[in-house]
Amino acid sequence: MRANTALTQSETKSIQLNDSHNANVRGILDAFGLTAGSAVSGVAYGGGFTSAPTGEALETHDPTTGEVLAYVKTAGHPDVSRVAAEAAKAFERWRLVPPPQRGEIVRRLSDAFRRRKEDLALLISLENGKILSEARGEVQEVIDICDLAVGQSRQLFGHVIASERRDHQLLEQWHPLGVVGIISAFNFPVAVPGWGWALALVCGDTIVWKPSSLTPLVSIAVQQIFHEVTGGTEAEGAFSLVIGKGGVVGEALLADTRLPLIQATGSCALGERVSVALAKRSGRAILELGGNNAVVVMADADLNLAIRAVVFGAVGTAGQRCTTTRRLILHRPIHEPFLERLIAAYRTVRIGDPLDENTLMGPLISLDAVSEYEYGLAEIQRQGGQIIYGGKVLVDGGGYFVEPTIVRSKADMPICREEVFAPILHVFAVDTLEEAIEINNSVPQGLSSALFTTNLSTTERWLSSTGSDCGIANVNAGTSGAEIGGAFGGEKATGGGRQAGSDAWKGYMRRQTCTINYGEDLPFAQGVRFKAEQATRKRSGS
Ligand code: UN1
Repeated sequence: MRANTALTQSETKSIQLNDSHNANVRGILDAFGLTAGSAVSGVAYGGGFTSAPTGEALETHDPTTGEVLAYVKTAGHPDVSRVAAEAAKAFERWRLVPPPQRGEIVRRLSDAFRRRKEDLALLISLENGKILSEARGEVQEVIDICDLAVGQSRQLFGHVIASERRDHQLLEQWHPLGVVGIISAFNFPVAVPGWGWALALVCGDTIVWKPSSLTPLVSIAVQQIFHEVTGGTEAEGAFSLVIGKGGVVGEALLADTRLPLIQATGSCALGERVSVALAKRSGRAILELGGNNAVVVMADADLNLAIRAVVFGAVGTAGQRCTTTRRLILHRPIHEPFLERLIAAYRTVRIGDPLDENTLMGPLISLDAVSEYEYGLAEIQRQGGQIIYGGKVLVDGGGYFVEPTIVRSKADMPICREEVFAPILHVFAVDTLEEAIEINNSVPQGLSSALFTTNLSTTERWLSSTGSDCGIANVNAGTSGAEIGGAFGGEKATGGGRQAGSDAWKGYMRRQTCTINYGEDLPFAQGVRFKAEQATRKRSGS
């Protein structure tokens, strides 16, 4: 039992799990041929799972009950090296397949995810703890990115550029890059790696995927779907899985020169390790790291919209999205009434079994995550913040449940600069939009941000070059729940990477600029004259 150190004004809630949760586990695992409490391989390449990976076994837990779901046999060094070698071989073949035919494979994957949507959503909800509706949304997000990638497979456009030289063609084209390493986090165990692999596949790359060790069964299920779809096709072997420790698998992938690109999602600390390792070998990284996202609500806003957006942004996925609303900046005239309404909305949030359709907030992912929540609250109080709602760990039933929490904070509290990956919302009051923008931009991270207003100039100022400094800046829509059509990512400590839609596909390809001379002369660019060339012409003409 954990000590409850936090001050709180909320009523004590307990988590009452009914028996249906444990009764559901067997069927959910069974849909992917998994058995509760058994051992399963976490390494796959060449179209199949290996039976005896050389790493240690890891336990995966049901965050709702704390029970062990299964034991996953992880990759050791020899496995990682073998998988990278096979992925490199698969690349030699896959890059030759015309892009629209690669797109056809991704279309079949999209169909398979549609067929398996409910099975996979249940497994995500079970192992990750996010509520079913959000888990379904996550599978939908991977279907969406597959569909986008299918279209993209016919649009890997280059450019034809006006040449300054007579009888010259100047163009830019895109080639497959190689083996892409995908390092993904527990919080979006299907969709975010999908942003990478769906595009990478149509771009002609092959994939080595290191998923989070907290959600291994979900990644095993995705790998199975991949095998089902690609078995016997030219894509067989294009997608491989290496579950294992960051210190073993992650470090090996970062150092492996056969992987020209690593896409990594996780904390800012992870991003620093990836950046340094990749810089040492001149590799490329697409990084999506921490967020510390703010919502600004002006007095002229539609407060009904704003309340709904803040509750979804701060409480959704139990505060474990990169895009979670962590800071709420309220215009002083509406500060107190807005807080009252927000607290009333928080009181209605039903915490419990994520598989129950009536639940709005499931458990955190792990005991470590509960400790991070407790650390965050202790620091907040030490630094002068005041908890006005929530603040309790709810231990009944053995799961990792906490209350969503609202805190009156001061923007200069050092803890407000940190991404505490838990449902804790800092609230500040401001007098002007300028002050709100200053607070929004004052943190190291720069992922998502949102403004609620009905005023046109306030909107434009927020979206101008002196407004929000984040990769995502919304108006009258919250910080989380981005569509895949736009490029997703953030600035500053968030890493600068862009994934998903728009032109993010370019990150998975090799760009080539080509000059073709179809004339009989050899003019140099910038008007340079080079004597040796003139002398050669004279001699041949004499
Ligand atoms: C993440 O938390 O890493 O915008 C990604 C969103 C989701 C993706 C979140 N579409 O909230």
